[in-house]
Amino acid sequence: MTNPTDNLISQNDLDPFSPEQQTARLRGVLTDVKKIASGGMAHIFQARQPALDRYIVVKKLKDELFTNPETLERFRREAKALASVLHQNIAHVYDFVESGKDSFLLMEYIEGVDLSTVIQKVGNIPFDVAASILLNVCRGVSYIHAYHLIHRDIKPANIRLTARGEVKLMDFGIVMDIANTSLTRPGMMVGSPSYLSPEQVLGDPITPSADIFLLGITFYEMMTGTRPFKEAERETVFQRIRETRYIPARQMNSTIPKKLNRIIEKCLEKAPSERYTNVKELMGELEQYLGVQKSNHTSDLILKYLDQEALVTPKIQYSEVKETQSFLKKMNWILIGVGAVFLLLGFLIGYWARPKMVSGPSTYPSAKPINPKNVKGSSR
Ligand SMILES: Nc1ncnc2c1ncn2[C@@H]1O[C@H](COP(=O)(O)OP(=O)(O)O)[C@@H](O)[C@H]1O
Ligand SMILES: [Mg+2]
Repeated sequence: MTNPTDNLISQNDLDPFSPEQQTARLRGVLTDVKKIASGGMAHIFQARQPALDRYIVVKKLKDELFTNPETLERFRREAKALASVLHQNIAHVYDFVESGKDSFLLMEYIEGVDLSTVIQKVGNIPFDVAASILLNVCRGVSYIHAYHLIHRDIKPANIRLTARGEVKLMDFGIVMDIANTSLTRPGMMVGSPSYLSPEQVLGDPITPSADIFLLGITFYEMMTGTRPFKEAERETVFQRIRETRYIPARQMNSTIPKKLNRIIEKCLEKAPSERYTNVKELMGELEQYLGVQKSNHTSDLILKYLDQEALVTPKIQYSEVKETQSFLKKMNWILIGVGAVFLLLGFLIGYWARPKMVSGPSTYPSAKPINPKNVKGSSR
């Protein structure tokens, strides 16, 4: 038996959440919509939201992909994953709207430039700037790993540098939720050809370590201006990744500091067990390289560089990041030197003022040899 009100509720004019009204709602709140990019899965639009005086991004799933239930499910998963995390190094999601045969992901508009564009324009990025960018991506990745999410698509095109010197990881299109691997189960090769880990290519089980490999590829590209795994000499990219064969970064650019080269090599180990145990460990190495001062002021360092290269128009003032680390290091050596001098002086003074053990006539009144005759009670 049907409820007499059912008919009424299902009528579009009475249902505020009907597909038509969903789209109308978006049209009502957004103006100046313009397309800014077209990715693998979606078209990206920028739109103005006058009520909140801000620009936002509307990511619309491509029409041809809407009918593919797996793609649609991935798009929903991207929205859910992004909504479940809130971190300064990850693009924020505002809403997800499904309307008839359209799906929209509404998110913050990240004003700035893609890391891939930066690399294309400048070749290789200065080492401390590259380390600062990677450190920020690591902060975001370490955060999502704590939520049992594996990004699986970390690459320069999915990293955006802002006009405030921030670093934002985007595109959670193939994110894998370890708690629910039904869609993106191990063994499926998803991702961009040059930016895959050996386990993704081999169809082995995927762990968070796959992201560490991709961070290594990104770091390599930032410091050499080129990807480590490219099609070459009758070998496919996949073969190269499977064998983990690449030209060492220091061979491409001999000025790369040994420590940073070692970081790349450890990220790009073929066996996940040989890589960093977790992203935090990698962050520790980057922080050690940068020093306390630079690690705490990465945005100043990044923004200054982007400004110098005319890649963004800064939205905020940045300050000079001083090399207090090396100053502290110098101070340490001075303190160790002064300590050593005092220790030596102490030793010398101690040696000089020691009680003297001379073998000549004693200065102390010596006990006279006992004459047995003088001893009371002695009988002879
Ligand atoms: N929130 C955003 N703010 C600014 N630009 C964005 C944003 N999201 C995406 N873009 C731009 O669109 C491009 C493609 O977006 P992405 O999320 O990577 O889509 P796809 O999954 O199709 O690759 C990005 O490389 C970037 O240039
Ligand atoms: Mg992308």
